[in-house]
Amino acid sequence: MSRERVASLDALKPGSAMKVVIDGIPIALVRESQGDVHALGDRCSHGDISLSEGFVEDDSIECWAHGSKFELSTGTPRNFPAYEPVPVFAVEIDGDDVFVNTEIRK
Ligand code: FES
Repeated sequence: MSRERVASLDALKPGSAMKVVIDGIPIALVRESQGDVHALGDRCSHGDISLSEGFVEDDSIECWAHGSKFELSTGTPRNFPAYEPVPVFAVEIDGDDVFVNTEIRK
């Protein structure tokens, strides 16, 4: 199954991130300060670092290791050293439930 309930919206505060795993795929579930929720591949494209341990800033998340910031809506890095995007997956909100579909990439 690729679409899975991964969290309650209430547990994911604006400006925070958490790691979830669907079918063995680690995902950074990120809620930007404006409230929108995004799901990105959790592994930084520059190294084996969990992006969900990074810093959420407006519409990006910063890898704590070397400072690359990834756009939440596209997974594109805004600055080096990372230069490859991370995958971004479809998110659905149903009431207080957050669903991620790993078969649909944005
Ligand atoms: S491991 Fe993420 S920027 Fe280097």
